[in-house]
Amino acid sequence: MNRMLRHARLVWPAGLAAILVVACLPLGAQGDMQQVVNVAYNKYKTLKEGKNADYIPALAKVDPNLFGVALITTGGKVFTAGDISTEVSIQSISKVFTMAQVIQEQGVDSIEKRIGVDATGARFNSIIAVESVKVVQGAGAPEMNALVNPGAISATSMVTGANADAVWNKIIGFHNDFAGRQLKVLQDVYKSESDTNQRNQAIGALMYAYGYIKTDWHQAVDLYTRQCSIGVNAKDLATMAATLAAMGKNPVTGKKVMDADKVPAVLAVMATAGLYDDSGKWLYHTGLPAKSGVGGGIIAVSPGKFGIAVVSPPLDDAGNSIRAQRAIADISNSLKGNPLAAPTQ
Ligand code: DON
Repeated sequence: MNRMLRHARLVWPAGLAAILVVACLPLGAQGDMQQVVNVAYNKYKTLKEGKNADYIPALAKVDPNLFGVALITTGGKVFTAGDISTEVSIQSISKVFTMAQVIQEQGVDSIEKRIGVDATGARFNSIIAVESVKVVQGAGAPEMNALVNPGAISATSMVTGANADAVWNKIIGFHNDFAGRQLKVLQDVYKSESDTNQRNQAIGALMYAYGYIKTDWHQAVDLYTRQCSIGVNAKDLATMAATLAAMGKNPVTGKKVMDADKVPAVLAVMATAGLYDDSGKWLYHTGLPAKSGVGGGIIAVSPGKFGIAVVSPPLDDAGNSIRAQRAIADISNSLKGNPLAAPTQ
């Protein structure tokens, strides 16, 4: 600590000294982080690869040029570039938080025993994946997890409540706590997906028939569709990711949302299956637990360091946002965010 800072610590109250410390950092973490975010944003803002999802008609109408990047540290510092206010539907990223809610309320065994925590090796809405696990009940499926549709619809069915409204209020409430604000359903997306989700209804019916869903499967599919239609911007998603990075304490609001000892289970499933068939490739290059959604968002978590999110609707063949994957990988690798690498100092 230099002499001026030591003097500040002696003479001034702690808060003022802290402000001075931050302001005096010449090329400290703060400046680096904003610069790294800016570099990735500028590098990818003109990239035109990929295509919006269109199997949910409302998603095809979203502006493909939308591009927002947000990084939030576990200390609550926020770094952003591009459009961080336009909302897209959260889609499959919601699967993380509903799974987390079940883990929080019912323990880490609950998801493992009912649904399983292994990769399916199949697409997110594969019915073959359901057929291949139908014989196993009560000990977790051999190749199933809560981040693909059969497991996710089952996880939604596990959220307890006296009726559909009570369950929904808990689901949206948990998402709100992670985001640090009140989120709303994008009604056009909800209607569009409800009109076209026959495949998910088939998956819900099968998961009920095979004993994974034990309550009304129609309700589970409807609530799952609603949770996928929650509107979020890049900053909301980064706050949600940062809350996981901070082991369950929202670093922006300070609210404890989840028990710290339960968060690693959530991150493990994200690492296993967060980017669907491309999860292994993603982990190989970044080491980051992450989750994508067909609305164009991706969240990624560097435990103890930061959460990061990018919104950009055009997707690759696996259903993952192209600009989001590239920007997050660049930013995290520049900031040494890979949790599988030994810390260097
Ligand atoms: O179930 C569906 O088809 C959508 N609501 C969510 C899919 C999704 O985001 C998969 N993403 N990569």
